[in-house]
Amino acid sequence: MRWMSAAGGGLALRRRGCLHGYVRARRGRKMPEFKEIERDWRSARAIHLPGMLLAAVPGFADAIADALQIMRRVRSGESCLDILDEPRYRQRLLPDFEMLAAVHSGHDPQELEKIAFDAVKSGELFAEDIWLKVSRLSFHEQDASIRFRFSYGMEMFKAQEDDPLRERLAAELAERVFPECGIVSEHAELTRLLHALLGFAPAFVERIIYSNAPEGGAQFHQDVEQGHHGVLYAQLYGRTAWLALPRDALLREMTAFVRDELAASGLAADEQWELRWLCAHPEALIAQLEAEDQGVVERLLNQTPAFTRRLVTRGWGRVLQPGDVLLLPQHAVDACCWHAVFCLDDEPGHALSFALARLVA
Ligand SMILES: [Fe+2]
Repeated sequence: MRWMSAAGGGLALRRRGCLHGYVRARRGRKMPEFKEIERDWRSARAIHLPGMLLAAVPGFADAIADALQIMRRVRSGESCLDILDEPRYRQRLLPDFEMLAAVHSGHDPQELEKIAFDAVKSGELFAEDIWLKVSRLSFHEQDASIRFRFSYGMEMFKAQEDDPLRERLAAELAERVFPECGIVSEHAELTRLLHALLGFAPAFVERIIYSNAPEGGAQFHQDVEQGHHGVLYAQLYGRTAWLALPRDALLREMTAFVRDELAASGLAADEQWELRWLCAHPEALIAQLEAEDQGVVERLLNQTPAFTRRLVTRGWGRVLQPGDVLLLPQHAVDACCWHAVFCLDDEPGHALSFALARLVA
């Protein structure tokens, strides 16, 4: 990804009311060699596999178009449960999943709807409390980004449940509602590559279907979770821009920015003072980065165009186009790939995000 001017045909990097600048995809995108993929995976760098899924997209074109319709209808205020209850969608579920009522988790203000399902086998209840949750990604009024997350059991205490059967069933449910999940799960070459990289054939779990919309995307975060080795993101429709780098590199970039570029950053004097103090105390900087409320670090990471520009010019940016895959290693809190996402189009897109897990039957 290159930093550009608007006049030079750059695409706006805009999120939640903040224009960060303009970028363009680099020309001549190539599939990396396996040894390069392996090296980057170990060092928690993002791995871009441009066009990996492109040949498979036509086979899933109807499912992708259908998903875009579901997303459009949910955005316009229709209930996802009512949509999935229509015969054409209900037949995707039956006889293996039974859709129950909408439930409310009560603790998540971004939740639009949460729908519970039972898994059924030979007419008998097989597993329960598998769910699909539809959420907004922010409260910014111009950001219409939504996501559909498939999981099971107690949301807040999932690590304690560790139920491979329901984990698999939640993944299967995602594939029934959004058959285009198969573009990843049935992709022989991608599956082989992941097997070689991880040393086992990963299950694609904790599936999320993302629809990033103009002004939307994700702020900087990591996705480290027990039992998950990383995240696979597949762009199916529309384009997204990513900033993605290992935590160590992010800390180094923050510190160098604060040392060299802070004066022209546009940050207030008290924010500059606080950032200087944090960068002089690396343990405190790490604690602030990992905190729920990141305070001034959140400002620097997500609302400081000069810092975004630094990351792009230092080579940490990627533009994802339909058919592209991005692998985000998540080995441990201190060895993971932090990432932030921007929507590059003037209409919402469609993408898949799967965690890579080793499931024991
Ligand atoms: Fe993520």
